[in-house]
Amino acid sequence: MHEFKYKNRDLYCENIKVEDLARRFGTPLYIYSYHTLISHFTKLRDAFKSINPLICYSVKANSNLTILKALVDKGAGLDIVSGGELFRALKAGCLPRKIVYASVGKTTFEIEEAIKAGILFFNVESYPELENIQHIAKRLRKAVNVSLRINPDVEPKTHKYITTGKITNKFGIDFKSAKEIILLARAFSYLKITGLHIHIGSQITTSTPYVAALKKVIAFIEVLKKEGVVLEYLNIGGGLGIIYDKETPQTAQRFAAKVLPLLKKTGLKIIMEPGRFIVGNSGILVAKVLYIKNTPKKKFIIVDTGMNDLIRPALYEAYHNILPLTKAKGEELADMVGPICESGDFIAKGRNLPKVKEGEYLAVMGAGAYGFSMSSNYNSRRRAEEVMVLKDKVSVIRKREVYQDLVRNEAILKLSK
Ligand code: LLP
Repeated sequence: MHEFKYKNRDLYCENIKVEDLARRFGTPLYIYSYHTLISHFTKLRDAFKSINPLICYSVKANSNLTILKALVDKGAGLDIVSGGELFRALKAGCLPRKIVYASVGKTTFEIEEAIKAGILFFNVESYPELENIQHIAKRLRKAVNVSLRINPDVEPKTHKYITTGKITNKFGIDFKSAKEIILLARAFSYLKITGLHIHIGSQITTSTPYVAALKKVIAFIEVLKKEGVVLEYLNIGGGLGIIYDKETPQTAQRFAAKVLPLLKKTGLKIIMEPGRFIVGNSGILVAKVLYIKNTPKKKFIIVDTGMNDLIRPALYEAYHNILPLTKAKGEELADMVGPICESGDFIAKGRNLPKVKEGEYLAVMGAGAYGFSMSSNYNSRRRAEEVMVLKDKVSVIRKREVYQDLVRNEAILKLSK
């Protein structure tokens, strides 16, 4: 499933010992395995081969240029949500006609840039946004394709912060309004609604909510057909879960077996936007143990990484497996915490963690998705270094920030006389 494995007692990434990387590049350190990354992309592509979908990797999961380029080289398109992600997508060499653009809050500037770049389409999330795109397209005299993001009102059974397809979420448009909008939009001279889009949430571990959503969408497509609306694309979003703990998420094959019959029924070109499934298990975050602190109630393993590098535990109480770089010293109940001045700054809480000593290292597994991409400079911490391993070769794909990076865009005003 991934290429972070023990050989004898040492943890390896592909053919390189993780501890050697930690010593050479310092910590905190994000390490990615090229083969794990690519194998997840190809697993999905192969599972859906019979309909040859456009797989638009969701840039937000991990937007490092090398990762984007590696996937683009294998034929991936990209799913973007901002002007910054468009910039990255183009820089990574993605063909504009393989870029789809979602987000409830695209600015006029961002829409203009994406139209000029010639992206495949916008996933539009509201009527005012649609009007704005029509307005801009008219001004630029460029015909624009859009797909409407439908909110199918299904329960994906995942964390509430990453549930997106329920009617109380800010995302997408309900079926009734979508029909009205599609009919109204016929009068928009510069717009063509060429598809429908759904994205019901993230870290979804069964196909049930996808099937429920797709059935509703298929019925809607039939309603539209009766109105003479002909579509070309169906974008089923991302959201496929991975194993962090004890989940038994479906494999690409099993997921495909459930949804392929429905997708084929639509007769439309299928787009997918997986992020986590592709990149999640291809990255780890390595931290060094700074201190072991025993208090009357608890043991704290204080490490040199924290919520600024990986916010998932703090934000979603997410579970990440913690592995020692050298195996077999047993476990003990502890909290693994960072140096940040917040009690929410933990990587693992109240868990049996590897027995470690100061100066040793721990690996936070499954940190490839929403790890670095959600990292920040909080507490004026420099963002971590990222390296990519390909067999026995390692390359830096993002340098560790230096202090100057922290203040680069700041000014010191002379406020006192
Ligand atoms: N498409 C759209 C429109 C999305 O909003 C997202 C993710 C994706 C695709 C990719 O979803 P994926 O396949 O990665 O589940 N920060 C959270 C996850 C937020 C997901 C946001 N949208 C986490 O760390 O769990």
